[in-house]
Amino acid sequence: MKIVLSIGGSSINPKGEPDLDFLKKMAHLIKESKNEFGLVSGGGSTARAYANAARTLGASEYEADNVGIVSTRQNAQLLVAALKGAGVDVSKTVFTDFDQAKLVTNKVVVMGGTIPGITTDTDAVLLAEAIGAKRLVNISNVSGIYNRDPRKNKNAKKFDKMTYDQLISLAAKNDGRTAGTHFVFDMLACKLIARSNIETHFVDGRNMHDIKNSIEGKKHSGTVVGK
Ligand code: UTP
Repeated sequence: MKIVLSIGGSSINPKGEPDLDFLKKMAHLIKESKNEFGLVSGGGSTARAYANAARTLGASEYEADNVGIVSTRQNAQLLVAALKGAGVDVSKTVFTDFDQAKLVTNKVVVMGGTIPGITTDTDAVLLAEAIGAKRLVNISNVSGIYNRDPRKNKNAKKFDKMTYDQLISLAAKNDGRTAGTHFVFDMLACKLIARSNIETHFVDGRNMHDIKNSIEGKKHSGTVVGK
């Protein structure tokens, strides 16, 4: 089965430096799995710091996004190194184009960001559409989708399962957000998984057991979004 893993910068680089243990464990998991993988990495706090620095220096939003994209690709290159180190057959290039990525067969393809104006949530879904993956696993520093922001509401409840429409309404509600907070998954990404019926799992990057189970389509403590 083809599966896309969207790996947040917060998991690759949680505290200002790459988490080698996480990278090695992810590579090992992919090596052991019988599935075919496309990987997309996010930029995390490095992307935000660099994009903000660029803005402060006078860069436009378009230019700041391009700075953010460089961070996502730097993390993607680390994933390539980790996979190679684990003996996984991986494309050496970090792809910047979905049509090129979809030409690859029998190798893990790795991407970061692509164009300004979107985030790697959307890139991951577009890669899934391009290669025909019907399962997407979003790995980040949140353990699933909650009915309200769990960082602000002690009583926030996590969904085990939800439909695409429920996710879209929740993302829409969170669109009136204040600066600095954002919903787990972009609205555009939410709409794209719905249009192509891509079952999407949200799991915590610190929980390898959940990551493994979500890849294999087994029960986990995160959230599954489907029809
Ligand atoms: P991320 O996907 O990591 O952004 O891309 P994010 O949603 O802010 O990160 P998480 O979910 O909290 O980890 C980092 C930045 O790179 C630019 C955007 O500025 C984005 O915020 N980017 C990324 C693009 O402009 N285009 C892309 O295709 C990807």
